[in-house]
Amino acid sequence: SLMDQLFGMHQTEKRLSEYFGIDRCLIASGDGDRQPKVIAEFGQLLNESLDLLLPDGENTIAVMGGTTMAKVAEELGNLETGKRHNLFVPARGGIGEAVNVQANSVGSVMAMRTNGNYRSLFVPEQLSTNTYEFLLKEPAILDVLNLISQANCVIHSIGRALHMAARRKMSEKEILMLKQKNAVAESFGYFFNEAGEVVYKIPRIGLQLKDLQNVPIIFAIAGGKSKAKAINAYMKNAPKQTWLITDEACANEILKGA
Ligand code: G3H
Repeated sequence: SLMDQLFGMHQTEKRLSEYFGIDRCLIASGDGDRQPKVIAEFGQLLNESLDLLLPDGENTIAVMGGTTMAKVAEELGNLETGKRHNLFVPARGGIGEAVNVQANSVGSVMAMRTNGNYRSLFVPEQLSTNTYEFLLKEPAILDVLNLISQANCVIHSIGRALHMAARRKMSEKEILMLKQKNAVAESFGYFFNEAGEVVYKIPRIGLQLKDLQNVPIIFAIAGGKSKAKAINAYMKNAPKQTWLITDEACANEILKGA
């Protein structure tokens, strides 16, 4: 029955959050690899959770990019109230994604759907160190970097290391190095091995992994059986306050090896 199914899912959510030692897991039924509606459900789960967790006052929400984040953004609904206002910012500078799945785009869609505001961070990818340093002194850029450093909520996805490296057109040399270091997961432009240790980092301005520890509200959103290994690796060392939103296929695959 539906009640049994719901109960079973709650048990799995509990087991998975205990396994990772995190505050909460939310699981959508199905397999995101095969059913696009699963990713849409991630968006609804995120919307309900944000509504629950975001305090009154001014919230600054830093978001990452990727296809999951882009689809999730489309599902959000109003999160503004008379007392609560939300500002979306990209968590980091560009890390080689197509425009429509860049953090800047995700932030603007989330702001539009939730009736919030957004700020973009325009830092071109290919810059000499000199130009980069000049750009970092620009007031408009500093402004957004300041906002990012004050974020009280971060929303991000998790990807498979080599898949992400290829999609972001990293060099042969870098890809070989990732293989040698047994990188299996990627998030925030950081690469992780199976133990959840950082083995490589794409240098970018904005939110750094260590900053995440001090962010009170964090959502990691990723699913599909094919991502089980990556999610398992990243979540091993994820901040305890992280809420993981994933799917049934992925959760079962992770718990099979637990
Ligand atoms: O860092 C992880 C990636 O943003 C995940 O990308 O949602 O397209 O798999 P994806």
